[in-house]
Amino acid sequence: MKTKFSFNLFGSFRKMEQFMQQLPYAVLLSDQSGRIIECNEALLRVTGYTRQEIVGHHINVIIPCQGTMEQLYREWTNKEDLWESPAEVEWLDKSGKTGRTNVMVLVQDAEDPLYLVHLVNLAKDSNDSLPQRLVTQLASDIYLGIVVLDRAAKIIEISQMACRLLGVERFHVLNQHIDKAFEGIPEEHRLIKRELLKGIKLQNKAMSWTNNSQRYELLVNSNTLHDEAGRIVGAYVLFKDVTNLRSFEQKIERSDRLAMIGQIAAGTAHEIRNPLTSIKGFLQLFLQSFGESGMERERTYTEIMLTEINRINSLVSEFLLLSKQRDVQYQIVDLNTVFEEILPIVNSEALLHGIDVQYLPAGQLPMVVGDTELLKQVFLNICKNGIEAMEKEGVLSISHHLDVEGDKISIDIHDTGPGIPAYVIDKIFDPFFTTKEEGTGLGLSVCQKIIHDLGGQIRVSSKGYGTSFHILLPYI
Ligand SMILES: Nc1ncnc2c1ncn2[C@@H]1O[C@H](COP(=O)(O)OP(=O)(O)O)[C@@H](O)[C@H]1O
Ligand SMILES: [Mg+2]
Repeated sequence: MKTKFSFNLFGSFRKMEQFMQQLPYAVLLSDQSGRIIECNEALLRVTGYTRQEIVGHHINVIIPCQGTMEQLYREWTNKEDLWESPAEVEWLDKSGKTGRTNVMVLVQDAEDPLYLVHLVNLAKDSNDSLPQRLVTQLASDIYLGIVVLDRAAKIIEISQMACRLLGVERFHVLNQHIDKAFEGIPEEHRLIKRELLKGIKLQNKAMSWTNNSQRYELLVNSNTLHDEAGRIVGAYVLFKDVTNLRSFEQKIERSDRLAMIGQIAAGTAHEIRNPLTSIKGFLQLFLQSFGESGMERERTYTEIMLTEINRINSLVSEFLLLSKQRDVQYQIVDLNTVFEEILPIVNSEALLHGIDVQYLPAGQLPMVVGDTELLKQVFLNICKNGIEAMEKEGVLSISHHLDVEGDKISIDIHDTGPGIPAYVIDKIFDPFFTTKEEGTGLGLSVCQKIIHDLGGQIRVSSKGYGTSFHILLPYI
Protein backbone atom coordinates (compact mmCIF):
# COMPACT_ATOMS: atom_id res chain seq x y z
CA MET A 1 0.00 0.00 0.00
CA LYS A 2 1.20 3.44 -0.84
CA THR A 3 1.82 5.67 2.14
CA LYS A 4 0.43 9.15 2.07
CA PHE A 5 2.89 11.98 2.45
CA SER A 6 2.01 13.80 5.58
CA PHE A 7 2.50 17.49 6.11
CA ASN A 8 1.50 17.57 9.73
CA LEU A 9 5.14 18.29 10.25
CA PHE A 10 4.47 21.98 9.62
CA GLY A 11 2.73 22.15 12.96
CA SER A 12 0.55 25.12 12.21
CA PHE A 13 -1.30 26.45 9.22
CA ARG A 14 0.63 29.71 9.49
CA LYS A 15 3.94 27.88 9.24
CA MET A 16 2.75 26.03 6.21
CA GLU A 17 1.65 29.28 4.57
CA GLN A 18 5.12 30.68 5.13
CA PHE A 19 6.63 27.57 3.62
CA MET A 20 4.36 27.87 0.57
CA GLN A 21 5.34 31.48 0.02
CA GLN A 22 8.99 30.58 -0.03
CA LEU A 23 8.65 27.93 -2.70
CA PRO A 24 9.97 29.15 -6.05
CA TYR A 25 7.27 27.34 -8.01
CA ALA A 26 3.48 27.59 -8.02
CA VAL A 27 1.69 25.89 -5.13
CA LEU A 28 -1.89 25.79 -3.99
CA LEU A 29 -3.67 24.27 -1.05
CA SER A 30 -7.10 22.77 -1.52
CA ASP A 31 -9.63 20.95 0.58
CA GLN A 32 -11.22 17.60 -0.11
CA SER A 33 -13.76 19.07 -2.55
CA GLY A 34 -11.09 20.80 -4.62
CA ARG A 35 -11.81 24.28 -3.26
CA ILE A 36 -8.64 26.37 -3.13
CA ILE A 37 -7.83 27.53 0.38
CA GLU A 38 -4.54 29.27 -0.23
CA CYS A 39 -1.95 29.75 -2.93
CA ASN A 40 1.47 31.33 -3.17
CA GLU A 41 2.91 34.34 -4.91
CA ALA A 42 4.56 32.28 -7.63
CA LEU A 43 1.13 31.01 -8.65
CA LEU A 44 -0.24 34.55 -8.92
CA ARG A 45 2.74 35.53 -11.01
CA VAL A 46 2.40 32.76 -13.57
CA THR A 47 -1.38 32.82 -13.83
CA GLY A 48 -1.97 36.56 -13.62
CA TYR A 49 -4.80 36.11 -11.10
CA THR A 50 -5.19 38.04 -7.85
CA ARG A 51 -5.38 36.02 -4.67
CA GLN A 52 -9.09 36.82 -4.35
CA GLU A 53 -9.78 35.41 -7.80
CA ILE A 54 -8.29 32.08 -6.82
CA VAL A 55 -8.98 31.46 -3.16
CA GLY A 56 -12.44 29.98 -2.62
CA HIS A 57 -12.68 28.72 -6.22
CA HIS A 58 -12.37 25.20 -7.52
CA ILE A 59 -8.94 24.02 -8.53
CA ASN A 60 -10.26 23.65 -12.09
CA VAL A 61 -9.85 27.41 -12.69
CA ILE A 62 -6.19 26.46 -13.05
CA ILE A 63 -6.17 22.75 -13.80
CA PRO A 64 -9.16 21.69 -15.90
CA CYS A 65 -10.30 18.53 -14.09
CA GLN A 66 -13.27 16.77 -12.57
CA GLY A 67 -13.82 15.00 -9.30
CA THR A 68 -12.82 15.28 -5.69
CA MET A 69 -9.27 15.79 -4.61
CA GLU A 70 -9.10 12.22 -3.42
CA GLN A 71 -9.87 10.99 -6.92
CA LEU A 72 -7.45 13.43 -8.49
CA TYR A 73 -4.77 12.47 -6.04
CA ARG A 74 -5.20 8.84 -6.96
CA GLU A 75 -5.22 9.65 -10.64
CA TRP A 76 -2.08 11.78 -10.42
CA THR A 77 -0.10 9.46 -8.20
CA ASN A 78 -1.28 6.12 -9.42
CA LYS A 79 2.11 4.81 -10.36
CA GLU A 80 4.06 1.80 -9.35
CA ASP A 81 7.22 3.60 -8.59
CA LEU A 82 7.04 6.59 -6.30
CA TRP A 83 10.27 7.92 -7.73
CA GLU A 84 8.92 8.03 -11.22
CA SER A 85 8.49 11.52 -12.59
CA PRO A 86 5.28 13.17 -11.43
CA ALA A 87 2.06 13.24 -13.46
CA GLU A 88 1.63 15.82 -16.15
CA VAL A 89 -1.49 17.95 -16.37
CA GLU A 90 -2.82 20.82 -18.39
CA TRP A 91 -3.05 24.25 -16.80
CA LEU A 92 -4.67 27.57 -17.66
CA ASP A 93 -3.71 31.14 -16.91
CA LYS A 94 -6.15 34.01 -16.49
CA SER A 95 -6.14 34.92 -20.14
CA GLY A 96 -7.03 31.34 -21.06
CA LYS A 97 -3.57 30.41 -22.31
CA THR A 98 -2.82 26.77 -21.67
CA GLY A 99 0.26 24.69 -21.13
CA ARG A 100 1.44 21.55 -19.42
CA THR A 101 3.09 21.09 -16.09
CA ASN A 102 4.10 18.32 -13.74
CA VAL A 103 1.98 18.06 -10.64
CA MET A 104 2.90 16.68 -7.25
CA VAL A 105 0.55 16.40 -4.32
CA LEU A 106 1.09 16.17 -0.59
CA VAL A 107 -1.86 15.01 1.49
CA GLN A 108 -2.41 15.94 5.07
CA ASP A 109 -2.65 12.97 7.36
CA ALA A 110 -6.04 13.84 8.81
CA GLU A 111 -9.71 12.93 8.87
CA ASP A 112 -10.61 15.74 6.48
CA PRO A 113 -7.28 16.24 4.76
CA LEU A 114 -5.93 19.25 2.91
CA TYR A 115 -4.00 18.79 -0.35
CA LEU A 116 -0.88 20.72 -1.19
CA VAL A 117 -0.64 20.79 -4.99
CA HIS A 118 2.75 21.65 -6.50
CA LEU A 119 2.83 22.80 -10.11
CA VAL A 120 6.51 22.19 -10.38
CA ASN A 121 7.18 23.54 -13.84
CA LEU A 122 5.43 26.79 -13.17
CA ALA A 123 8.22 28.69 -11.59
CA LYS A 124 9.79 32.03 -11.95
CA ASP A 125 11.98 32.03 -15.01
CA SER A 126 15.41 31.24 -13.69
CA ASN A 127 16.92 32.83 -16.77
CA ASP A 128 15.57 36.22 -15.87
CA SER A 129 17.07 38.97 -17.95
CA LEU A 130 19.28 41.47 -16.18
CA PRO A 131 16.62 44.23 -16.23
CA GLN A 132 14.17 41.73 -14.72
CA ARG A 133 16.70 40.82 -12.06
CA LEU A 134 17.22 44.48 -11.33
CA VAL A 135 13.50 44.97 -10.78
CA THR A 136 13.34 41.93 -8.51
CA GLN A 137 16.34 43.16 -6.57
CA LEU A 138 14.95 46.68 -6.22
CA ALA A 139 11.64 45.29 -5.10
CA SER A 140 13.30 43.71 -2.12
CA ASP A 141 15.36 46.80 -1.28
CA ILE A 142 14.15 47.78 2.15
CA TYR A 143 14.71 51.49 1.60
CA LEU A 144 13.11 51.85 -1.79
CA GLY A 145 9.42 51.90 -2.54
CA ILE A 146 8.43 50.68 -6.00
CA VAL A 147 5.01 50.22 -7.48
CA VAL A 148 4.55 49.24 -11.12
CA LEU A 149 1.12 49.42 -12.73
CA ASP A 150 0.03 47.99 -16.03
CA ARG A 151 -2.15 49.90 -18.44
CA ALA A 152 -5.32 48.72 -16.67
CA ALA A 153 -4.01 50.07 -13.33
CA LYS A 154 -3.27 46.62 -11.99
CA ILE A 155 -0.36 46.30 -9.58
CA ILE A 156 2.26 44.25 -11.39
CA GLU A 157 5.07 44.80 -8.94
CA ILE A 158 5.22 46.24 -5.47
CA SER A 159 8.24 46.27 -3.20
CA GLN A 160 8.26 45.17 0.41
CA MET A 161 8.97 48.70 1.56
CA ALA A 162 6.01 50.05 -0.40
CA CYS A 163 3.79 47.39 1.17
CA ARG A 164 4.94 48.30 4.66
CA LEU A 165 4.37 51.96 4.02
CA LEU A 166 1.00 51.55 2.34
CA GLY A 167 -0.11 49.04 4.94
CA VAL A 168 -0.88 46.23 2.49
CA GLU A 169 0.46 42.74 1.98
CA ARG A 170 2.29 42.16 -1.26
CA PHE A 171 0.67 38.83 -1.74
CA HIS A 172 -2.80 40.33 -1.35
CA VAL A 173 -2.37 43.16 -3.83
CA LEU A 174 -0.29 41.61 -6.62
CA ASN A 175 -2.23 41.67 -9.90
CA GLN A 176 -4.98 43.61 -8.22
CA HIS A 177 -6.53 46.79 -9.56
CA ILE A 178 -5.42 49.79 -7.48
CA ASP A 179 -9.02 50.77 -6.74
CA LYS A 180 -9.46 47.41 -5.09
CA ALA A 181 -6.06 47.31 -3.41
CA PHE A 182 -6.53 50.71 -1.79
CA GLU A 183 -10.27 50.50 -1.42
CA GLY A 184 -10.35 52.10 2.01
CA ILE A 185 -8.48 55.25 0.96
CA PRO A 186 -10.23 58.03 -0.98
CA GLU A 187 -8.63 58.60 -4.37
CA GLU A 188 -7.31 62.06 -3.51
CA HIS A 189 -5.46 60.74 -0.48
CA ARG A 190 -3.80 57.88 -2.24
CA LEU A 191 -0.14 57.72 -2.90
CA ILE A 192 -0.70 55.51 -5.92
CA LYS A 193 -3.35 57.11 -8.09
CA ARG A 194 -5.00 56.12 -11.32
CA GLU A 195 -3.98 59.48 -12.78
CA LEU A 196 -0.43 58.19 -12.98
CA LEU A 197 -1.40 56.45 -16.17
CA LYS A 198 -2.46 59.73 -17.71
CA GLY A 199 1.14 60.83 -17.85
CA ILE A 200 1.44 62.76 -14.62
CA LYS A 201 5.11 62.93 -13.94
CA LEU A 202 6.64 63.60 -10.53
CA GLN A 203 10.25 64.39 -9.91
CA ASN A 204 11.62 64.30 -6.39
CA LYS A 205 8.37 65.59 -5.03
CA ALA A 206 8.44 65.86 -1.25
CA MET A 207 5.36 64.31 0.33
CA SER A 208 4.26 63.29 3.76
CA TRP A 209 2.51 60.04 4.22
CA THR A 210 0.94 58.68 7.35
CA ASN A 211 -0.20 55.14 7.71
CA ASN A 212 -1.87 53.99 10.90
CA SER A 213 1.25 53.79 12.93
CA GLN A 214 3.85 56.13 11.52
CA ARG A 215 4.48 59.29 9.60
CA TYR A 216 6.92 59.20 6.70
CA GLU A 217 8.56 61.94 4.70
CA LEU A 218 8.98 60.77 1.12
CA LEU A 219 10.62 61.82 -2.09
CA VAL A 220 8.44 60.58 -4.90
CA ASN A 221 9.24 60.02 -8.58
CA SER A 222 6.75 58.69 -11.04
CA ASN A 223 6.36 58.35 -14.76
CA THR A 224 4.62 56.35 -17.43
CA LEU A 225 6.01 53.38 -19.36
CA HIS A 226 5.64 53.29 -23.13
CA ASP A 227 5.82 50.68 -25.86
CA GLU A 228 7.72 51.11 -29.13
CA ALA A 229 4.80 52.93 -30.68
CA GLY A 230 4.80 55.40 -27.83
CA ARG A 231 1.57 54.16 -26.27
CA ILE A 232 1.27 54.15 -22.50
CA VAL A 233 1.53 50.57 -21.28
CA GLY A 234 1.97 51.23 -17.62
CA ALA A 235 3.36 53.50 -14.96
CA TYR A 236 5.72 53.34 -12.06
CA VAL A 237 6.16 55.13 -8.78
CA LEU A 238 9.45 55.19 -6.90
CA PHE A 239 9.70 56.63 -3.45
CA LYS A 240 12.44 57.02 -0.93
CA ASP A 241 11.92 57.37 2.77
CA VAL A 242 13.71 60.55 3.83
CA THR A 243 12.15 60.83 7.28
CA ASN A 244 15.57 60.86 8.94
CA LEU A 245 16.83 63.59 6.66
CA ARG A 246 13.79 65.72 7.33
CA SER A 247 14.12 65.38 11.08
CA PHE A 248 17.77 66.40 10.72
CA GLU A 249 16.67 69.48 8.79
CA GLN A 250 14.13 70.27 11.45
CA LYS A 251 16.85 70.00 14.10
CA ILE A 252 18.94 72.52 12.20
CA GLU A 253 15.96 74.84 11.88
CA ARG A 254 15.40 74.54 15.60
CA SER A 255 19.00 75.26 16.47
CA ASP A 256 18.90 78.32 14.18
CA ARG A 257 15.86 79.51 16.05
CA LEU A 258 17.57 78.90 19.37
CA ALA A 259 20.63 80.83 18.25
CA MET A 260 18.38 83.74 17.43
CA ILE A 261 16.70 83.57 20.84
CA GLY A 262 20.18 83.56 22.35
CA GLN A 263 21.14 86.71 20.48
CA ILE A 264 17.98 88.52 21.48
CA ALA A 265 18.47 87.40 25.07
CA ALA A 266 22.02 88.70 25.07
CA GLY A 267 20.95 92.07 23.65
CA THR A 268 18.20 92.41 26.23
CA ALA A 269 20.50 91.25 28.99
CA HIS A 270 22.86 94.16 28.37
CA GLU A 271 19.97 96.61 28.47
CA ILE A 272 18.82 95.16 31.78
CA ARG A 273 22.23 95.06 33.33
CA ASN A 274 23.06 98.74 32.94
CA PRO A 275 20.07 100.17 34.83
CA LEU A 276 20.52 97.37 37.40
CA THR A 277 24.01 98.61 38.18
CA SER A 278 22.77 102.05 39.07
CA ILE A 279 19.76 100.73 41.06
CA LYS A 280 22.13 98.48 42.96
CA GLY A 281 24.52 101.34 43.69
CA PHE A 282 21.78 103.57 45.08
CA LEU A 283 20.30 100.74 47.14
CA GLN A 284 23.69 100.19 48.72
CA LEU A 285 23.75 103.87 49.65
CA PHE A 286 20.25 103.54 51.15
CA LEU A 287 21.33 100.52 53.11
CA GLN A 288 24.16 102.45 54.64
CA SER A 289 22.14 105.54 55.55
CA PHE A 290 19.15 103.50 56.84
CA GLY A 291 21.61 101.63 59.03
CA GLU A 292 23.16 104.82 60.32
CA SER A 293 19.83 106.45 61.09
CA GLY A 294 18.50 103.29 62.81
CA MET A 295 15.66 102.75 60.33
CA GLU A 296 15.68 98.99 60.86
CA ARG A 297 12.56 98.15 58.81
CA GLU A 298 13.71 100.13 55.78
CA ARG A 299 17.15 98.59 56.08
CA THR A 300 15.71 95.06 55.98
CA TYR A 301 13.59 95.89 52.94
CA THR A 302 16.60 97.29 51.18
CA GLU A 303 18.56 94.14 51.97
CA ILE A 304 15.81 92.05 50.41
CA MET A 305 15.81 94.27 47.33
CA LEU A 306 19.57 93.85 47.01
CA THR A 307 19.31 90.05 47.22
CA GLU A 308 16.67 90.07 44.51
CA ILE A 309 18.78 92.35 42.35
CA ASN A 310 21.68 89.95 42.74
CA ARG A 311 19.42 87.15 41.58
CA ILE A 312 18.47 89.10 38.48
CA ASN A 313 22.13 89.87 37.94
CA SER A 314 23.20 86.25 37.99
CA LEU A 315 20.36 85.35 35.65
CA VAL A 316 21.48 88.04 33.27
CA SER A 317 25.07 86.79 33.48
CA GLU A 318 23.85 83.36 32.46
CA PHE A 319 22.11 84.91 29.47
CA LEU A 320 25.33 86.56 28.47
CA LEU A 321 27.32 83.41 28.90
CA LEU A 322 24.93 81.62 26.62
CA SER A 323 25.32 83.99 23.78
CA LYS A 324 28.92 85.14 23.85
CA GLN A 325 32.16 84.28 25.45
CA ARG A 326 32.83 86.85 28.12
CA ASP A 327 35.89 87.21 30.26
CA VAL A 328 36.83 83.57 29.85
CA GLN A 329 40.21 82.83 31.39
CA TYR A 330 41.73 79.79 29.78
CA GLN A 331 44.38 78.11 31.87
CA ILE A 332 45.51 74.65 32.86
CA VAL A 333 42.98 73.40 35.35
CA ASP A 334 43.44 70.62 37.86
CA LEU A 335 40.09 68.87 37.98
CA ASN A 336 40.97 67.43 41.42
CA THR A 337 41.04 70.96 42.82
CA VAL A 338 37.81 71.82 41.05
CA PHE A 339 36.07 68.95 42.82
CA GLU A 340 37.75 69.64 46.16
CA GLU A 341 36.30 73.11 45.97
CA ILE A 342 32.79 72.26 44.88
CA LEU A 343 32.25 69.14 47.00
CA PRO A 344 31.58 71.06 50.24
CA ILE A 345 28.88 73.06 48.43
CA VAL A 346 27.37 69.93 46.87
CA ASN A 347 27.54 68.09 50.21
CA SER A 348 25.76 70.80 52.14
CA GLU A 349 23.03 71.05 49.50
CA ALA A 350 22.69 67.26 49.50
CA LEU A 351 22.51 67.12 53.28
CA LEU A 352 19.52 69.46 53.21
CA HIS A 353 17.72 66.97 50.96
CA GLY A 354 18.82 63.81 52.77
CA ILE A 355 20.93 62.76 49.82
CA ASP A 356 24.13 60.79 49.95
CA VAL A 357 27.04 62.02 47.83
CA GLN A 358 29.60 59.48 46.66
CA TYR A 359 32.75 60.88 45.14
CA LEU A 360 34.52 57.95 43.56
CA PRO A 361 37.53 59.08 41.57
CA ALA A 362 39.53 56.10 40.36
CA GLY A 363 42.95 57.68 40.87
CA GLN A 364 43.83 61.25 40.11
CA LEU A 365 41.84 63.27 37.61
CA PRO A 366 43.90 64.66 34.74
CA MET A 367 44.59 68.28 33.87
CA VAL A 368 42.42 70.04 31.32
CA VAL A 369 42.46 73.42 29.65
CA GLY A 370 39.57 75.62 30.68
CA ASP A 371 38.29 78.31 32.97
CA THR A 372 38.23 77.10 36.59
CA GLU A 373 35.22 79.16 37.59
CA LEU A 374 33.19 78.09 34.56
CA LEU A 375 34.07 74.43 35.04
CA LYS A 376 32.97 74.66 38.67
CA GLN A 377 29.71 76.12 37.45
CA VAL A 378 29.19 73.19 35.07
CA PHE A 379 29.67 70.51 37.72
CA LEU A 380 27.70 72.45 40.31
CA ASN A 381 24.76 72.90 37.92
CA ILE A 382 24.64 69.22 37.08
CA CYS A 383 24.97 68.10 40.69
CA LYS A 384 22.28 70.58 41.67
CA ASN A 385 19.92 69.23 39.01
CA GLY A 386 20.54 65.71 40.29
CA ILE A 387 19.80 66.70 43.85
CA GLU A 388 16.68 68.58 42.80
CA ALA A 389 15.50 65.57 40.81
CA MET A 390 15.86 63.19 43.76
CA GLU A 391 13.99 65.54 46.10
CA LYS A 392 14.11 63.65 49.40
CA GLU A 393 16.46 60.70 49.23
CA GLY A 394 18.91 59.05 46.92
CA VAL A 395 22.54 58.84 45.94
CA LEU A 396 24.49 61.27 43.82
CA SER A 397 27.67 59.64 42.58
CA ILE A 398 30.57 61.27 40.80
CA SER A 399 33.11 59.13 38.99
CA HIS A 400 35.23 59.32 35.88
CA HIS A 401 36.63 57.15 33.10
CA LEU A 402 38.44 57.55 29.79
CA ASP A 403 36.14 57.47 26.76
CA VAL A 404 36.41 54.73 24.16
CA GLU A 405 38.89 56.53 21.97
CA GLY A 406 40.88 57.37 25.06
CA ASP A 407 41.43 60.98 24.10
CA LYS A 408 38.87 62.46 26.46
CA ILE A 409 38.16 62.20 30.13
CA SER A 410 34.53 61.57 30.96
CA ILE A 411 33.28 62.83 34.27
CA ASP A 412 30.13 60.94 35.13
CA ILE A 413 27.51 62.32 37.46
CA HIS A 414 24.76 59.89 38.26
CA ASP A 415 21.63 60.32 40.33
CA THR A 416 19.00 57.85 41.45
CA GLY A 417 16.15 60.22 40.68
CA PRO A 418 13.08 59.52 38.55
CA GLY A 419 14.98 59.84 35.25
CA ILE A 420 14.11 62.00 32.26
CA PRO A 421 11.18 60.96 30.07
CA ALA A 422 11.98 60.33 26.40
CA TYR A 423 9.83 63.22 25.19
CA VAL A 424 11.77 65.64 27.39
CA ILE A 425 15.31 64.44 26.96
CA ASP A 426 15.87 66.16 23.59
CA LYS A 427 14.92 69.52 25.02
CA ILE A 428 16.80 69.71 28.30
CA PHE A 429 19.73 71.58 26.76
CA ASP A 430 17.45 74.19 25.18
CA PRO A 431 17.63 77.58 26.86
CA PHE A 432 14.55 78.29 28.96
CA PHE A 433 13.42 74.69 28.98
CA THR A 434 12.49 73.76 32.51
CA THR A 435 10.03 71.48 34.23
CA LYS A 436 10.52 73.19 37.56
CA GLU A 437 8.26 75.85 38.98
CA GLU A 438 11.21 77.97 40.05
CA GLY A 439 13.54 76.88 37.25
CA THR A 440 15.16 79.14 34.70
CA GLY A 441 15.94 76.44 32.19
CA LEU A 442 19.35 77.99 31.68
CA GLY A 443 21.54 75.66 33.75
CA LEU A 444 22.14 72.94 31.20
CA SER A 445 22.30 75.22 28.18
CA VAL A 446 25.02 77.20 29.93
CA CYS A 447 26.85 73.96 30.81
CA GLN A 448 26.64 72.81 27.22
CA LYS A 449 27.98 76.09 25.90
CA ILE A 450 30.92 76.08 28.34
CA ILE A 451 31.85 72.48 27.54
CA HIS A 452 31.48 72.92 23.77
CA ASP A 453 33.74 75.96 23.89
CA LEU A 454 36.41 73.73 25.42
CA GLY A 455 36.09 71.19 22.62
CA GLY A 456 34.23 68.80 24.88
CA GLN A 457 30.86 67.15 24.87
CA ILE A 458 28.07 66.69 27.32
CA ARG A 459 25.88 63.63 27.10
CA VAL A 460 22.95 62.44 29.04
CA SER A 461 21.48 59.01 29.45
CA SER A 462 18.37 58.17 31.33
CA LYS A 463 16.52 54.93 31.01
CA GLY A 464 13.48 54.82 33.19
CA TYR A 465 15.16 55.24 36.50
CA GLY A 466 18.08 57.48 37.35
CA THR A 467 20.01 59.87 35.15
CA SER A 468 23.67 60.06 34.16
CA PHE A 469 25.44 63.05 32.75
CA HIS A 470 28.80 62.48 31.09
CA ILE A 471 31.03 65.47 30.59
CA LEU A 472 33.76 64.68 28.12
CA LEU A 473 36.80 66.93 28.04
CA PRO A 474 40.06 66.71 26.14
CA TYR A 475 42.85 66.35 28.72
CA ILE A 476 46.58 66.94 28.75
N1 LIG B 1 19.29 64.84 36.85
C1 LIG B 1 18.10 65.12 36.30
N2 LIG B 1 17.03 64.32 36.48
C2 LIG B 1 15.84 64.62 35.93
N3 LIG B 1 15.60 65.70 35.14
C3 LIG B 1 16.62 66.54 34.91
C4 LIG B 1 17.91 66.30 35.46
N4 LIG B 1 18.73 67.30 35.04
C5 LIG B 1 17.96 68.12 34.27
N5 LIG B 1 16.71 67.68 34.20
C6 LIG B 1 15.60 68.30 33.43
O1 LIG B 1 16.16 69.29 32.58
C7 LIG B 1 15.51 70.53 32.77
C8 LIG B 1 16.45 71.66 32.47
O2 LIG B 1 17.50 71.74 33.40
P1 LIG B 1 18.27 73.09 33.58
O3 LIG B 1 18.71 73.56 32.24
O4 LIG B 1 19.32 72.92 34.63
O5 LIG B 1 17.16 74.11 34.08
P2 LIG B 1 16.41 74.15 35.49
O6 LIG B 1 17.21 73.36 36.47
O7 LIG B 1 16.37 75.61 35.79
O8 LIG B 1 15.05 73.58 35.23
C9 LIG B 1 15.01 70.46 34.20
O9 LIG B 1 13.91 71.32 34.41
C10 LIG B 1 14.62 69.00 34.32
O10 LIG B 1 13.36 68.77 33.79
MG1 LIG C 1 19.27 73.43 36.71
